[in-house]
Amino acid sequence: MRKEKLREQMLKNQRANRYLTKDSNERKVVEEVFDGATIRSLNVLRQRGQLDYLNGVVAAGKEARVYWGVALDGAPLAVKIYLMVSADFRKRMRYIAGDRRFEKIPSSSRDIIRLWVQKEFKNLQAASEKGVRVPVPYSLNSNILIMEYIGEPPRPAPLFAETEVDEDDYNWTMKTIKNLYRKAGLVHADLSEYNIFKTAKGERVLFDMGSAVLTSHPESKELLTRDVTNMARFFRKRGIDSKDPVGLVEEIIS
Ligand SMILES: Nc1ncnc2c1ncn2[C@@H]1O[C@H](COP(=O)(O)OP(=O)(O)O)[C@@H](O)[C@H]1O
Ligand SMILES: [Mg+2]
Repeated sequence: MRKEKLREQMLKNQRANRYLTKDSNERKVVEEVFDGATIRSLNVLRQRGQLDYLNGVVAAGKEARVYWGVALDGAPLAVKIYLMVSADFRKRMRYIAGDRRFEKIPSSSRDIIRLWVQKEFKNLQAASEKGVRVPVPYSLNSNILIMEYIGEPPRPAPLFAETEVDEDDYNWTMKTIKNLYRKAGLVHADLSEYNIFKTAKGERVLFDMGSAVLTSHPESKELLTRDVTNMARFFRKRGIDSKDPVGLVEEIIS
């Protein structure tokens, strides 16, 4: 319910939330919200024509905020902005080290976040190209990732956690984990009912791919087992029978 209220507030504040309009007062509002580096990063995306303006916050997490952005042609965009100051950035190392796409491991939190955004972008791109349904990635810069908006703004689509699920959803989930592994060569590594959308039309979309690792990653099997176990537990909790996770994992990697 609190979420609802926040969204209403957000709509009211729509104009105030716009950034970099010609009105210098509005600009001031924005500069209080974002740090200087993020403002510059948003400006670069704008100069490239990849973003017109931001309409308001969709979700505010500890490490990233997702905004409803608007493209030059008026289409909605999901703009994920990682907070540059994050206490937890070091726990990301597990998912970066061991990934042969990233040879040099950065040491500053800023560089780790930049790398994280690149990784999330590449993961979305790889999944998307291989026909695994994820938000289509559009562009990135520094700590900002722009992708397809899933849902009808200002609302994101409901999550599995927030909606009814059935056996088709279970089958889709296990098939998608398998396709992600076999076709895109990836393990999601942070999979749960909070990282899968089910839209009003019933379309399912996997997202939040920053943690995803290549199947060649030394811990990929362990991470895959965790993903499958999480989803099996979720469906069982909802009264949907799941096969044994260990068997499912063997089936995926065999
Ligand atoms: N592509 C998208 N379209 C619409 N909403 C999104 C999109 N990506 C994320 N969101 C919203 O932002 C929330 C957090 O996104 P997520 O990628 O899971 O970030 P975190 O790393 O904080 O978990 C989601 O639960 C959803 O409400
Ligand atoms: Mg998430």
